[in-house]
Amino acid sequence: MRIRKNAVITAVGGYVPDTVLSNHDLEKMVDTNNEWIVARTGIKERRIVNDPGVATSDLAVRALKRLMSDAGVTPHEIDCVIVSTSTPDYVMVSTGSIVCEKAGLTKAWGIDTNAACSGFLYALTLGASMIESGRCKKVVVIGADKNSSIVNYSDRNTCILFGDGAGAVMLEQTEEPVGLMDSFFRTDGSGKENLIVTAGGSRFPASQQTLDDQLHYVRQDGRVVFKAAIQGMTDTCNEVLQANDLLSSQINYLIPHQANLRIIQSVGDYLGLSGDQVKINIDRYGNTTSATIPLVMWDYKDDFKYGDKIILTAFGAGFSWGATYLKWGRLRKAAQE
Ligand code: COA
Repeated sequence: MRIRKNAVITAVGGYVPDTVLSNHDLEKMVDTNNEWIVARTGIKERRIVNDPGVATSDLAVRALKRLMSDAGVTPHEIDCVIVSTSTPDYVMVSTGSIVCEKAGLTKAWGIDTNAACSGFLYALTLGASMIESGRCKKVVVIGADKNSSIVNYSDRNTCILFGDGAGAVMLEQTEEPVGLMDSFFRTDGSGKENLIVTAGGSRFPASQQTLDDQLHYVRQDGRVVFKAAIQGMTDTCNEVLQANDLLSSQINYLIPHQANLRIIQSVGDYLGLSGDQVKINIDRYGNTTSATIPLVMWDYKDDFKYGDKIILTAFGAGFSWGATYLKWGRLRKAAQE
């Protein structure tokens, strides 16, 4: 019998900047108030980079270094780093390349992927495929975004939502019945106008006009995104559950992308999950785009037990959305000094 070789998460790391941007801080910047933000989004505060010298790669490196020190993994053991980000350090030169250099990963190759808020899920499946095939032994998948670099802090529709941060996981091969079991992803490019950073790419290269028109900031139609997110996340969770003969009552935890507490709760309700099955940290970090799911893993890793059945789900610009089913394994622990 052929033994299926799964990719399992064996280490987790996370990092958020020290600077807190509270709802009360935002009250001084735009026409909003703490009560509205908490009631409509569930966000109380978010972390942002306040040092202009710090870029997305720096957040990613901090998360990766925590992962390596907690797990007792040395930089030269890692084969590949995939950085999922919508806010790369540069348009050309991958953030993955910079992360490898800054973290001293001399034997690894690094690349970037971008699927906005769904990006970490997609990158996790790409990384898992490289492990399952045997092409790599240790792949690190990082979700990292410095959203403060694309947020317009005079636009109350967006500036209340986003924060900066990074989360990282390491994947390795196992013959045990744990790890990434399945994924179900979708994209629909017709949704692009509803959530977009218009300029800075090849369609609208940076110019005086794009600056004057403020096209380098994130812009969204929140109501359209809100409805599509609930529908897309619920549908793909159901697809993954059905494909794996699972009832939602058999799921230990749902780790949803953290965009809006009302979206998260609606998805949990549609799936018939109880509140303590649904992991949430949006109140503290806001929407950190690619980093939300690994930051939830980082925050709650001590709750997860071997064999726990976990569904990850996300929705983001593109539109892009999907769900992944994984069974939790064992995290490596560095030897105590
Ligand atoms: N503070 C106070 N009032 C605000 C506000 C703010 N920050 N932002 C909008 N409002 C106002 C609106 O102007 C509107 O006023 P009106 O009724 O007088 O026109 C009212 O609040 C309701 O606006 P609406 O856009 O319908 O609110 P909402 O309940 O949809 O919440 C979002 C807005 C953005 C929080 C919500 O749509 C959302 O979270 N969407 C998804 C965003 C997302 O997930 N993006 C990332 C992709 S994963």
